[in-house]
Amino acid sequence: MNKSKVTVIGAGNVGATCAQICAERELANEVVLLDIKEGVAEGKSLDLWQTAPVNYYDSRVVGVTNDYSRTANSDVVVITSGLPRKPGMSRDDLISVNAGIVKSVTESVIKHSPNAIIIVVSNPLDVMTYCAYLTAKVDASRVIGMAGVLDTARFRAFLAEALDCNPKDIQALLLGGHGDTMVPLPRYTTVSGIPVTQLIDSEKLNAIIERTKNGGGELVKLMGTSAWYAPGSSAAQMVESIVKNQKRIFPCCVRLNGEYGVKNAFVGVPVKLGNKGVEQIIEIDLNATERNDFNNSVKAVTDVMGVLDGMKLF
Ligand code: NAI
Ligand code: 2OP
Repeated sequence: MNKSKVTVIGAGNVGATCAQICAERELANEVVLLDIKEGVAEGKSLDLWQTAPVNYYDSRVVGVTNDYSRTANSDVVVITSGLPRKPGMSRDDLISVNAGIVKSVTESVIKHSPNAIIIVVSNPLDVMTYCAYLTAKVDASRVIGMAGVLDTARFRAFLAEALDCNPKDIQALLLGGHGDTMVPLPRYTTVSGIPVTQLIDSEKLNAIIERTKNGGGELVKLMGTSAWYAPGSSAAQMVESIVKNQKRIFPCCVRLNGEYGVKNAFVGVPVKLGNKGVEQIIEIDLNATERNDFNNSVKAVTDVMGVLDGMKLF
């Protein structure tokens, strides 16, 4: 059993799934689930705790309504509170409501867990990570957005289907913001070490790249709200790398401070995650097209960061 304490803020679809996986994998001694809606986190946590004898885990799951004292001294806090997308909405449409939520939640989180590593999930992801960073006033290595793990998971799943191979064998990389401008990188995508470009023709590959970029929207259309199994699992995988100090390398949204020639922007790049949070930002070689696509994505993100700045919350 890992001795860590993990808090998940927001006991909705993504938050409850993340808490479930953290508990099932015994990533923490205690998993605290917090929501603003009376009774929801308590109910879901009780249900998860009653799953422990069946699914054979012993992470204690505790639910609270807005009681941050119960989250005190968490090692990792995952922020999922906020509105999800409805059909026809972009992630950026959520900024006005979710910025207020992420700001107030982060203030309470950091007050009670001043040393926590914060993983942000709320959308628009890159800008909400920036919002949490501005609020928390901690080193940027401790504020990380979850998007690339999910987006590469979608890319990998679509490739596994097209190639009729095992999704476990697919490694993929992707850069940029969590939106239509994200940049999947076929040159850095392999199937058991074999470059994917040797296994699939470019027309099929391009169709998969487009589907990946619209992967969130495809699910919103089907379900009337956004996805949660893969998002919750992706956040839990980041928690695992941090609490077990696994030093895994994932694409995550982090603050660039000169890396990739970009300053003060929150975008997805490959990073090493360990118990200090972001332990390394890895700069990979990009060709002219990849560089151009990445720069476009950075521009799209910084435009929305500007919208947050314009809200004068800080
Ligand atoms: P949901 O509506 O199921 O859950 C959100 C929960 O947050 C609700 O239970 C709500 O009561 C709670 N909440 C709202 N304000 C709060 C506050 N001030 N304090 C504590 N709890 C509060 O939504 P879902 O599907 O779980 O999505 C959550 C967020 O994650 C959305 O913004 C969504 O767009 C985003 N998301 C991001 C993904 C990513 O890749 N980064 C993937 C999927 C969702
Ligand atoms: C997703 O990609 C909506 O960001 C959410 O599923």
